[in-house]
Amino acid sequence: MSGRIPEKFIDDLLARVDIVEVIEQRVPLKKAGRDWMARCPFHDERSPSFTVSPNKQFYHCFGCGAHGSAIKFLMEYDRMEFPDAVEELASRVGLKVPFEGGGKRTPAEDSADLYTVLDASAKFYQHELRKSDKARAYFDARGLDAAIIERFGLGYAPDAWDGLKSALGTSPPRIALMEKSGMLTRGERGTPYDRFRDRVMFPIQDRRGRVIAFGGRILEKTEDSGAKYLNSPETPLFHKGQQLFALWQVRQVHARIPRLIVVEGYMDVIALFQHGVTQAVATLGTATTRDHAELLFRNCADVYFCFDGDRAGRGAAWKAVESVLPRMRDGRQAFFLFLPDGEDPDSLVRKEGQSGFEERLKAATPLSEFFFAHLGADVNLASLDGKARLAEHARPLLSQIPDGAFRDLMLGELDRITNVKLRVDAPTTATPRKTARPQERTLVRSAVALLVQHPAFAEALQPPWLFATLRQPGIALLAELVALCRERPAMSTAILLEHFEGREEARALQKLAVMDFPGEADALQAEFLDALAQLDRQTSQQRRGELDAKVAEHGLSALSADEKAELRDLQKQLAV
Ligand code: UTP
Ligand code: MN
Repeated sequence: MSGRIPEKFIDDLLARVDIVEVIEQRVPLKKAGRDWMARCPFHDERSPSFTVSPNKQFYHCFGCGAHGSAIKFLMEYDRMEFPDAVEELASRVGLKVPFEGGGKRTPAEDSADLYTVLDASAKFYQHELRKSDKARAYFDARGLDAAIIERFGLGYAPDAWDGLKSALGTSPPRIALMEKSGMLTRGERGTPYDRFRDRVMFPIQDRRGRVIAFGGRILEKTEDSGAKYLNSPETPLFHKGQQLFALWQVRQVHARIPRLIVVEGYMDVIALFQHGVTQAVATLGTATTRDHAELLFRNCADVYFCFDGDRAGRGAAWKAVESVLPRMRDGRQAFFLFLPDGEDPDSLVRKEGQSGFEERLKAATPLSEFFFAHLGADVNLASLDGKARLAEHARPLLSQIPDGAFRDLMLGELDRITNVKLRVDAPTTATPRKTARPQERTLVRSAVALLVQHPAFAEALQPPWLFATLRQPGIALLAELVALCRERPAMSTAILLEHFEGREEARALQKLAVMDFPGEADALQAEFLDALAQLDRQTSQQRRGELDAKVAEHGLSALSADEKAELRDLQKQLAV
């Protein structure tokens, strides 16, 4: 856990946030008794084993073991860093995250500075665009109006080696930061200078709308104008295989995204938007990765991939197929749209308008069809040999599809095409065992489990705690838990697990948190208090054993007056 955000604040936060609401916005949940259930977003499965408990304020998957608080969920699902997840939740409930001052710089502080530099760069380029007639004329010629330029934060990088550098690089640390953010680069002479010069600029935003990188396009082709598009390099904030250009804009427009269209270029996305097709995103000069595929499907179940109709386009489409197959959980659909020769989505939507483009989307090829057409293209399906070859190529690919109806359908189709019955090995992310090895149920284990599930039970336990000196495995943990639960009144299961995150007890506690205790809270509290009473009694027996052993070895006179009184008390007490 971060040492910078006070633990007290994390407690307050988790006590105010409702984990069901947080998860529901990302994964559709169904009520099941006291809990909510879904198919696990962290592994592929056919039937739901992912539960969210409003009482415990945590989630747990009985299939893959994923578990945690609302904070952990955001970290895993939205891939946020801890401080970002805390901030996101805090802003939901109107809390401001306090940071404990001073100390050394942490990576989070560093990235905060990187965001600042990138944001200032975007503003600088926007300002330069207002001053540059030729850059505005360029966007104008490409059909973009002022509103769309504003929506995408488009700008212009002036034709100078130190335009951005002298505007923002006010000190050496600042220049170092600009370099780290990718805005400056270094030549042979070692002096940093503006990476982007004389280019129209496209800011790339993350899922929260923060600028994390840029693409820059030359205005016209000249001898020394270099690559048509230049992108920021990989930086601590920018990993191009995980980002989609304009996903943030799409999310701003749609509370529920009806479909996502993946295109190749910045200008394709923007032209589609300009013409009313507001669900397009672009990969950033890379092939579609599995990370992209997952990110796409998490935002929307129907994804359309647009490619050129030429050979290169089909090759790129096949790469997308390979990335998408392992993500094809039931309910998700992928389609492929191949464009006529020489056209891209930008040119098409300008010619045919929104409705023309949407007609094309309606006629897009489903993944299953493209899959078999592509694999069948190079083999002769009239021959047994050809069928066998097709089956051979298809098998490893189909085995990556998560267990489910889509996989069955694809296997059935392969059977039909090849007339060969096939067995496909289960995917590598095989459905994990449903039942964990049964654990010995000791008094201490039960007590710890009940307390983890109901931290409020600790209130009835006044110190001093006799049981704390019992020599048994787990007693120290139980004592720590009792103290912790009494100290922190907002304690819930989620907060407790969060507190132990990173400690070696974390896994065990997490298992105990989902142990099943039938019965109502009152009965369970009685069970808990009874377990502690028995532990107290065992502690007394332990002490009596010590005193008895001393007497047996050295005689009664070896005991002090206090010890003799203690032994009498213990004998009376234990005789009951
Ligand atoms: P295209 O070359 O297909 O261009 O690049 P485009 O999108 O039609 O661009 P316009 O219409 O001429 O402005 C598609 C994408 O490939 C990446 C960029 O992300 C671009 O948007 N690309 C292209 C580069 O990264 N570098 C290049 O030199 C060219
Ligand atoms: Mn184009």
